[in-house]
Amino acid sequence: SSKITIPDLLSKKGQEKICALTAYDVLWARLLDEAGIDLILVGDSAAMIVLGYEDTLPITMEEMLVFAKAVSRGAKRALVVGDMPFLSYQTSQEEAIRNAGRFLKEGGCQAVKIEGGEEMAETVAAVVRAGIPVMGHIGLTPQRAHALGGFKVQGKDLESAQKLIRDARALEEAGVFSLVLECVPKELAAYITRELSVPTIGIGAGPDCDGQILVLPDLLGLFEAFRPKFVKSYANFAEEGRKALKAYLQEVKEGIFPGPKESFSLSEEVKKLLKL
Ligand code: KIV
Ligand code: NA
Repeated sequence: SSKITIPDLLSKKGQEKICALTAYDVLWARLLDEAGIDLILVGDSAAMIVLGYEDTLPITMEEMLVFAKAVSRGAKRALVVGDMPFLSYQTSQEEAIRNAGRFLKEGGCQAVKIEGGEEMAETVAAVVRAGIPVMGHIGLTPQRAHALGGFKVQGKDLESAQKLIRDARALEEAGVFSLVLECVPKELAAYITRELSVPTIGIGAGPDCDGQILVLPDLLGLFEAFRPKFVKSYANFAEEGRKALKAYLQEVKEGIFPGPKESFSLSEEVKKLLKL
């Protein structure tokens, strides 16, 4: 089937839940694509998930582009969104447009994601004006974790709930085609979802968003370093991986692998000539 477009995604609001996931390589991009995932985010969570950093701050544009290229080669149908890394869009609108453009021009993505609310709205608008579709991201924005005082639910008290509502409106005004709500009380996420004409995509934001997203290795039960409350694991790949590694180790040590099935043989004629 053909590529999901931004208008396709917009038209799902109120009709059909949008199902999104992160991916970082072509193997999983293909599987997600075949499974019918609508949107694949090449998340800067790659910093932690793939590169082993403590948080998302260190990952660079160049590193993100490697992942974006791999994912976009594997996604024939799903819309691919490149996550703009820390400091690739905050310094100026010009730099934001240039780096966002690289996700399309070099990364093969169809859109980018930018963290931040009202304070980023002008930058978002500039990128959108350049013809680059932007997904917003408010609530818990991990690139601002130090400023937020850690990884906490956002919008719990009146003042921060009102701030999130203003953020959502400012981003819709700026032209985002969808908005990620991360770690937001479910009632507030439902309210913002009703208020906006563009789809909301929740992660730790309850069941009433227009769509959901999870970090793929969390869904797979592969990332064990830490597990937020909002994660549901649908498999235990870490445990399966350990079992497979243990079995391989044992079979190699005991000379069971490779067996006849995995080995190549000489012809009888050559064996005779070599006196084997
Ligand atoms: O980087 C990421 O994986 C994300 C999602 C959690 C929304 O930003
Ligand atoms: Na991210």
